[in-house]
Amino acid sequence: EAAEIGSFSHFMEKEIFEQPVALENAMRGRFSADGSTAQFGGLNLTPIEVRQIDRFAFCGCGTAWHACLVAEHLIERFARVPVEVDYASEFRYRNSPLDGNTLFFVVSQSGETIDTLGALREAKRKGYKVLAINNTVGSSIAREADGGIYQHVGPEIGVASTKAFTSQLLIGAMFALYVARMRDMSFSDGVEYVKALKAAPDLVRKALEQAPRIKEIAKRYAQYADMLFLGRLSLFPIALEGALKLKEISYIHAEGYPAAEMKHGPIALISEKCPSVFFAPKSEIFNKIVSSIQEIKARNGKTIVITTEGCEFPPGVADDVIYIPDCHEAVLPIVATVPVQLLSYYIACERGCDVDKPRNLAKSVTVE
Ligand code: G6P
Repeated sequence: EAAEIGSFSHFMEKEIFEQPVALENAMRGRFSADGSTAQFGGLNLTPIEVRQIDRFAFCGCGTAWHACLVAEHLIERFARVPVEVDYASEFRYRNSPLDGNTLFFVVSQSGETIDTLGALREAKRKGYKVLAINNTVGSSIAREADGGIYQHVGPEIGVASTKAFTSQLLIGAMFALYVARMRDMSFSDGVEYVKALKAAPDLVRKALEQAPRIKEIAKRYAQYADMLFLGRLSLFPIALEGALKLKEISYIHAEGYPAAEMKHGPIALISEKCPSVFFAPKSEIFNKIVSSIQEIKARNGKTIVITTEGCEFPPGVADDVIYIPDCHEAVLPIVATVPVQLLSYYIACERGCDVDKPRNLAKSVTVE
């Protein structure tokens, strides 16, 4: 183990910094020769079958479920096909009605999570074709699925998922492109989308350059008992993921919420004792997000704002700002994940937590 970890302090840290290479591996060989779409070898579906699908259903647990939510956003946004997302543990018992032309996806890093395997079996029992997005060749889920897409990011050792998550986001974005190009997306928009995906590893490298600054910020936030993570649209699932990472490894209570829903409840939690991490990238609703941040400041809450290079905030709105590079909508969730991974990691280290083996958690949960 000591050799594999190299100069890093934990596997989680190593795996965070491995992400640019992991993303390169996950996309290798998966773009068409004309550079306008994605292609996958193991879907076991003809293009005509894909063309006829009128709904996708996605299931997963934990971090993989967050990846399903981002896939939902991108497939609906770019391919204009409705997507349903379920916790695997709920799907298997709730007898959900699914349309005839639904394609079922399960997402699982390990391929051994019993709830996700149970959802796969239930969907198959109902006669659906089930594909898996999975990182472990030959896993139970890989064997039982009708086809799928391997993540190809190598073993993930840290219990808190990092490179497996961002590669699931990438594959979701690539699959959205693949379907979009059969439905509603032009050749030139496809070419632009592919270029954006190919740029993702370098953008993640740039986001990782913020690590020393995030480490400094983490020192000032390590002693709080509660924290909120707030984001909108495709970054709402990343807010959930940021909160999950923080609670998993630092044991700070954290909640992820859609930023505009704050006013319907969680704002009651805000005080000088509960800081918020906000995603406020350049977007059409940037000003609305700034107003939500101002609501927090008016209640003495501290704010860490993750934003796009070049964005400016009125004085006094952001206590700490973390910049990420400007990027295509399909890549934004990937790049925006990096700062919250680093923030959780450095906060947990500051608190002296056993980052790679957090209490009560298992890398893969094979019991119900
Ligand atoms: C466990 C892990 C989580 C993971 C979840 C799903 O709870 O602690 O980090 O997201 O299982 O794992 P899977 O292997 O199915 O992606």
